[in-house]
Amino acid sequence: MNSYRTTAAYPVLVAAGLEKSYGPTRALAGVDVSVSTGESLAIMGPSGSGKSTLLHCLAGIERPDEGQVMLAGERSETRVPPDGAWVSVEQLDEPHRSELRRTRFGFVFQSGQLLPELPADENVALPLMLGGMPRRQAVQKARGWFPPLGLAGMEERRPGQLSGGQAQRVAIARALVGSPQVIFADEPTGALDQVTGMEVIDLLVTTTRRQRTALVVVTHDEDVARWCDRTIRVRDGRLSEDHRTPDGAAVTSAVAHAARGTAGRPAGYDADARYGR
Ligand SMILES: Nc1ncnc2c1ncn2[C@@H]1O[C@H](COP(=O)(O)OP(=O)(O)OP(=O)(O)O)[C@@H](O)[C@H]1O
Ligand SMILES: [Mg+2]
Repeated sequence: MNSYRTTAAYPVLVAAGLEKSYGPTRALAGVDVSVSTGESLAIMGPSGSGKSTLLHCLAGIERPDEGQVMLAGERSETRVPPDGAWVSVEQLDEPHRSELRRTRFGFVFQSGQLLPELPADENVALPLMLGGMPRRQAVQKARGWFPPLGLAGMEERRPGQLSGGQAQRVAIARALVGSPQVIFADEPTGALDQVTGMEVIDLLVTTTRRQRTALVVVTHDEDVARWCDRTIRVRDGRLSEDHRTPDGAAVTSAVAHAARGTAGRPAGYDADARYGR
């Protein structure tokens, strides 16, 4: 049995009343959202609906015009926030938000995020080295992430020598290596074919769940959203619905489905029962 089932989940990131405009464009018009330890949250919605803006506000990349983003205090090794306290991410200045992003968050983007001149293990080790860990120790820790992500033997390859799916798994390792509280992924499967995308999202969801890391995934792909515990939909900067999605066992069987080229609902999976309708 997975540990996430036996350990209570608690909210790790809570946002309320988020508003953000770019000139006349109202990208966020009052969004409330929270994500808990070990939980995966999918953000869906049409192009231009505000998904990336929401992710950027949650991750402290951008500051909302209105509203709050609260991150649970957990880490003693960082100066931000004070131990045990919640921190208002949106109130921090850029250097502190930058420190927060480096020490408490991990990021996976669509593609092109690995440094082409560095081998895969050093790409993964980079956040640790930026945090001051000696290179040898950081690379050793980074290498520990290769087998569980199906990357054994690829430690010394340059990104140009990896497939798209392998490169995304290296990016996932890099997001996980610093044991962040939250991983943010904006279209992590957007540049991959369907089967590879399903493998990548499965790894991302199951690994973060095991680590008790919260996961926020922006996606256009209903199949990707189905992998996550919960989906919220954004339209014109507002949330339009919120419902539960399959559990881990259903996800595993869906991977087998996707691999057979019938991506979608796992066998025996009853959406209405699971969504409580
Ligand atoms: N830096 C910016 N300057 C001006 N307008 C912006 C900026 N960033 C986003 N917008 C606008 O805000 C709205 C929401 O954009 P956002 O990128 O959040 O959408 P999205 O849902 O992520 O879309 P997509 O699915 O195409 O990535 C859009 O109208 C967009 O043009
Ligand atoms: Mg976007």
